[in-house]
Formats: sequence, C-alpha cells, structure tokens
Amino acid sequence: MTTNVLMICGSLRRGSFNRALMNALPELAPSGMTLAEAPSFRGFPHYDADFQTSSGFPADVVVLADAIRAADAVIIISPEYNWTIPGALKNALDWVSRLSDQPLKEKPVAIQSATGGPLGGARMQYHLRMALTYLNAFVFGTPEVFVGLAQTKFDEKTLALKDEPTRKIIAQQLAAFGTFIAHMKG
Ligand SMILES: Cc1cc2nc3c(=O)[nH]c(=O)nc-3n(C[C@H](O)[C@H](O)[C@H](O)COP(=O)(O)O)c2cc1C
Repeated sequence: MTTNVLMICGSLRRGSFNRALMNALPELAPSGMTLAEAPSFRGFPHYDADFQTSSGFPADVVVLADAIRAADAVIIISPEYNWTIPGALKNALDWVSRLSDQPLKEKPVAIQSATGGPLGGARMQYHLRMALTYLNAFVFGTPEVFVGLAQTKFDEKTLALKDEPTRKIIAQQLAAFGTFIAHMKG
C-alpha cells in the first residue's frame, strides 16, 4: 500500500535551505511512501474575514486545502522567523483553517525545520505544534528533525543535503512517521 505525503515548505525564498531539505526527503523515505510538493501559498492575500465574507475563499486557498484533504499525511518543512512560525505559512494555515471540512482535522502531520542558527527552529516547531493541535491534526512526536547551522549541512552549489547524521535522523523520522500514519488511519 502506498502512503501519499504532501510536503509544505514554509519558505518562499529562492535558494531556501528548507526547500533543499524538502527536496531531499523522497530519497530518504521508506518504501511505499511517496512525497509531493504542495501547491504554493505565495499568492494568498492576508487573511481578512471581511474579504472572506465579500469574496469567498481565493481559488489557490481551495487548491491547497483540496491537496491536503487528498493526502494521507502532511509534512511541514519551515524556517523559524523571530522564534516563531513565518508569517506567510501561518497566514496559509489561517486561510485553510476557515474552510468547512477543515482539511487538517485528523490529518497526520510531521514537522521539520532548518535555520542558520544552532537550534534549528525548535521554537518555531513548538509554536506550530500548538496551532496544529488546535486544528485537531494528529501531530507526530519523535524523532524530531532540527537542521541547525544549515549553511554547513547542504552543498554550497547544488544545495544537496550532504550531512550524514542529518540524513540518518530524517530517514528515521520518515520511517516512524509512516508507522504513525498507518496507526492513525486504523
Ligand atoms: C525575518 C527573519 C527572522 C529570522 N529569525 C530567526 C530565528 O528566530 N531563529 C533562527 O534560527 N533563524 C532566524 N532567521 C534566519 C533563518 O534561519 C535563515 O535566514 C534561514 O536560511 C531561513 O530559511 P530558508 O533558507 O529556508 O529561507 C530569520 C530570518 C529572517 C528573514
């Protein structure tokens, strides 16, 4: 049986370490797990309930929500901004959270992060866990993946993930996440 996991990258930056981390996941996944990138939230307007009332949900919000619903599970790979969730990612979660048939409800979700600093986004991950818990997602526990000092972990030119201990913990997390997804789907 195949498990389809949707990957949401929290950085919009060209040359993003989190995007590079996301791109490394398929080759580190256990057999039977396929990973695909989510549709972009780059064009989402700032969440505004008046806008929602007058214009409804933007088409690209609906596209992302549909992709989340269609996936068996989600993995969010994001930087930390000022010790918390980057605004664009939080805004995307806020938009999809307002849809009826809220897409993250009972959806298994794992988190990874890469940062230039040494802690690798730990504070962002705990804030993201809080928001996802409110949305009734099934948030995966351990092992956690924090890629600190990201500039030393990826190839300077190709952005390939070259750090072996990091590759190992990611493979362990994805294998454990696969088991978790199977449990949650009953
Ligand atoms: C607005 C802003 C806030 C940041 N805040 C943090 C932070 O709180 N902790 C941290 O470790 N790095 C922080 N950084 C540095 C990021 O870790 C670094 O820019 C990283 O490369 C961003 O991820 P990306 O390469 O995927 O875009 C911040 C960067 C920006 C632009």
